[in-house]
Amino acid sequence: MPEACGFLNCLTMNLFDVYPLYPIEPVRGKGCYVYDAEGLEYLDMYGGHAVISIGHAHPHYVDAIARQVAALGFYSNSVENSLQKEFALRLGKVCGYEDYSFFMCNSGAEANENAIKLASFHSGKEKILAFSQAFHGRTSGAVAATDNPKIVSPFNRTANVEFVPLNDLVAVETKLKEGGFCAVLVEGIQGVAGIQMPTGDFLRGLRRLTTQYGVSLILDEIQSGYGRTGKFFAHQLAGIRPDIITVAKGIANGFPVGGVLIAPHFEAWHGMLGTTFGGNHLACAAALAVLDVIENEKLIENANEVGEYLLSELAKISGLKEVRGKGLMIGIELDKPVAELRRRLLFEKHIFTGGAGVSTLRLLPALSIGRKEADCFLKAFKDLINE
Ligand SMILES: Cc1ncc(COP(=O)(O)O)c(C=O)c1O
Repeated sequence: MPEACGFLNCLTMNLFDVYPLYPIEPVRGKGCYVYDAEGLEYLDMYGGHAVISIGHAHPHYVDAIARQVAALGFYSNSVENSLQKEFALRLGKVCGYEDYSFFMCNSGAEANENAIKLASFHSGKEKILAFSQAFHGRTSGAVAATDNPKIVSPFNRTANVEFVPLNDLVAVETKLKEGGFCAVLVEGIQGVAGIQMPTGDFLRGLRRLTTQYGVSLILDEIQSGYGRTGKFFAHQLAGIRPDIITVAKGIANGFPVGGVLIAPHFEAWHGMLGTTFGGNHLACAAALAVLDVIENEKLIENANEVGEYLLSELAKISGLKEVRGKGLMIGIELDKPVAELRRRLLFEKHIFTGGAGVSTLRLLPALSIGRKEADCFLKAFKDLINE
């Protein structure tokens, strides 16, 4: 019940309490750092959940958004929008999928929702195959393909999604043989599961099996894509080309943008997909500015270099259960719960990190992070675990 102060017109609307919060409020950001109202500086090793790709408040990004909103912030998808075309053209070139087409939406879940829909329209089949511990978002189809019963409502539960273990090609083939599947949906690297890596052989095997059984291969690169692993997409480390790729998070550095890259064999028809906000002028300006910075500042190369450094230094630390990841997508698994360590990193060392499950610490910093920040994290981390 909301709290009342005695009069009906002075009821207070509270926030729907679904997020456990740290009692910290960043009010300003710059590069890899955020600041609270007192000016206290925090090193951001989490990028607001892999969203901050080019760093907080990058001047080129700020300027591009400010100029666009002053000119035209939004118009609907019923008129020409050359910014969308320019963005698709630039993205295709940067990521090596120039022959694919692009559909813009507003979030990762929505991108996956559209990807599933496309595969189902294309094949006329209704089932998708997903993987144990997968996370694909919270909209109906995406959450049904997410392996966490706690967030799947009875409405979302469906026999149209089946799960098999990651890296188990025999289980995949057994299911595909049964028929009825329009798609296999897999993360480039499983993020919420605690940075679980599909092997190169597994991804190549998935490509072979999906082609053999006439099923679309959808790569969810929402967390693992956009340069985070040192390649534009994580699946490019395995040398495969999926039929559909979904992107979001780092694509616009915090402006809500999602997208679907679609292979040439999918046919579009008017009305097939749609959105009010997706691909609006402001979203495109933000996404274009992000690509400018990624290219000009060679951030993918930087993610590779600083990521390798972090991974090699972490590998030298004894007492860790496992260190997993690629580039700046890193999971550090301990043999005990990680919540207290994360809390101490935040409140004593002023470093934001992420968690996954009970015992994995997740690092997803901006791709622009330097050695200085990596060393600062490593020192703080070692200090605390060696106590
Ligand atoms: C791999 C993956 N897919 C999909 C999503 C959902 O994205 P959004 O929260 O933008 O809907 C996430 C978010 O964490 C994710 O990590």
